[in-house]
Amino acid sequence: MTVAPPRQTLADGLEISRILTGLWQVADMEKDGTTLDPNQGADHLQAYLNAGFSTFDMADHYGSAEIIAGRLLSRHAGAGGPQIFTKWCPEPGPMTADVVRAGVQERLDRLGTDCIDLLQFHWWSFEHPAWLDALHEMARLKEEGLIKALGVTNFDAAHLRLALADGIPLVTNQVSFSMIDRRALGPLSQVYADKGVKLLAYGTLCGGFLSDRWLGKPEPAEISDWSKMKYKRFIDAAGGWGGYQAILQAASAIARKHGVSVANVATRWVLDQPAVAGTIVGARLGESEHIADNARLFSFALDEEDRTQLEEAFAQTAPVPGDCGDEYRRPPFLTASGDLSHHLSEMPRAHDATPASHRSDATRVLTGSDWEEIAGYCRAHRIGNRILVSGTTAVAGAARAVAPDDAAAQTTYILDKILAALSALGASAADVVRTRIFITDETDVFDISRAHGRVFSDIKPANTLVVVAGLIGDHRVEIEAEALLSDTPTDMA
Ligand SMILES: NC(=O)c1ccc[n+]([C@@H]2O[C@H](COP(=O)([O-])OP(=O)(O)OC[C@H]3O[C@@H](n4cnc5c(N)ncnc54)[C@H](OP(=O)(O)O)[C@@H]3O)[C@@H](O)[C@H]2O)c1
Repeated sequence: MTVAPPRQTLADGLEISRILTGLWQVADMEKDGTTLDPNQGADHLQAYLNAGFSTFDMADHYGSAEIIAGRLLSRHAGAGGPQIFTKWCPEPGPMTADVVRAGVQERLDRLGTDCIDLLQFHWWSFEHPAWLDALHEMARLKEEGLIKALGVTNFDAAHLRLALADGIPLVTNQVSFSMIDRRALGPLSQVYADKGVKLLAYGTLCGGFLSDRWLGKPEPAEISDWSKMKYKRFIDAAGGWGGYQAILQAASAIARKHGVSVANVATRWVLDQPAVAGTIVGARLGESEHIADNARLFSFALDEEDRTQLEEAFAQTAPVPGDCGDEYRRPPFLTASGDLSHHLSEMPRAHDATPASHRSDATRVLTGSDWEEIAGYCRAHRIGNRILVSGTTAVAGAARAVAPDDAAAQTTYILDKILAALSALGASAADVVRTRIFITDETDVFDISRAHGRVFSDIKPANTLVVVAGLIGDHRVEIEAEALLSDTPTDMA
C-alpha cells in the first residue's frame, strides 16, 4: 500500500511534504560539464510532485538544480505548486547588505521567482564572525518579502542557540541524520525541545548504502558517486563495515516483518524522531527513481520491538564524534569532493597577524576596533611561543553586544573570537593553558561553564572564574586566554 507523504507546517504559509526530494545529485550528474535539460528535469520533478512529494531541496552549488526547479515553478503559478528550498553558501568575508542582497537575488533570478520558500544559510568557519551579519541581513530581506522562511544548514547546537538568542527567526536546521550518524539526537534535539527549531535530515539513506542493495555485500574498493563517497566516510567513522552491516541486517529483518524496504525502515526511524520535520531523499533525475518505494513509507510504523532491535545494532557501531556540521569545520572532515567543501579552495582567516613595532620577536592581532587605538591594546599578542589574548566580550561591529540575554550564547561568540585570534597567530584551542572568566550574574555560571566546556572539555586549561560587579555595556561575560606553543614555528602565521 502506498500513502502520499504527510504534511508538516514549517512557518506561516509554508507547508511541506515530510519527504523532501534532494537535488545535490544533479551536480554529480553534471560533473563532466554537460547540464541537464531544464524542461526534462522539470518533467522528472513533476512526477514527484504528482505523487505528493511536493518539496524540493537544492543549493547554489547543486549544478543547474535551481534552474530546473525554477522551470517547474513557472508551470505552477498559484496554489498547488511545489515548495522550493535552496541554500546560500557564501565564501567567508564581509557580509555587507550589498553582498547578502546579491547572494539572495542570484537565488531569486535562478529560480525565476520573487520569493524563496526557505533560504538556508551555510557558513564554513564560526571563527569568522560575519555569519551573524549575514543572517541579520537575510532576516531584513525576509521582512522585505524576498524570503518566506529562514533556515540554516550544518549548524551545531551552540551556534544555532546563539543565532536564536541574537534574534534571528530561524525555523529549520538541515543536518546529516541517519541510523549511522545519530549525532542529531544530542544537543540539537535539545534545541528543538527548548526553542522549537526543527531539523531537516539529509544523508538518511547514506547515499543509498542504507538500502537492500548493500545487505551482505563486501566493502567496495571503489566508489564513483559523490554521495556514497561521503557516507562511506561516515560508515568508517562509525566503526566500519561490520557495524554498518549489523544495522542493515536489523533493518532488513524489520523490513521483512512489515513488507517494506530497508530504505523505508531507515527513513522511518529518522522521521520518527521528534525534532525532525522532514527527511531529504536524494534523487538522480532520469537515472533512477524510487517514488513508489518511498511512498510505502507511510504505510507502516516501527514498533517497540523494532526500535529495540535497532538500538542493539547501533550498539555495535561507534558514535560519529562531535556535533552536526563539525564534518565541514574540523578534522576528520567527513565531507567529499562535490560536497560543500569542494567549492572553497582555502578557508579565509578572520584576521591576519602583523609584526609588533616595538619588539622584533612579537606579532599581534588587531581587529580594527576603534578602542584598540584609543586604549592602546590588541586582541592578542604573541611573544616567542607565548600568546596572550585580551579580555574578550561578545561585541559585534562597533559596540553591539550579541545575545544580551543569553550568557551561554555570549560565551560561544567570545570563544570563536578567541579561537580566531589564536589561529591568526598559529595556535589553536589545544594550545590554551589558561582562561580567565569574568561574569556579572552568578546564576549564569552553569551556562557559561558548559559553553566553555564545549570547546575545552578535552584540553582542560587552568581556569579562574570571578563574579564582578559589572562589565561595560550589555555584557554578561568576558574571557581572556593564554596559550603556549610547544615548538615555535619559523613561519608565524
Ligand atoms: N546541507 C548539506 O550540507 C547537504 C549535504 C548533503 C546532502 N544534502 C541534501 O540531501 C539530499 C540527499 O542526498 P544525500 O547525499 O544525503 O543522499 P541520500 O538521500 O542519503 O541518498 C540518496 C540515494 O539513495 C538512493 N535511494 C533513494 N531512495 C531509495 C529507495 N527507496 N531505495 C533504495 N535506494 C534509494 C538513491 O540511489 P540511486 O540513485 O543510486 O538509486 C539516491 O541517489 C541532497 O540531494 C541534498 O538536497 C544536503
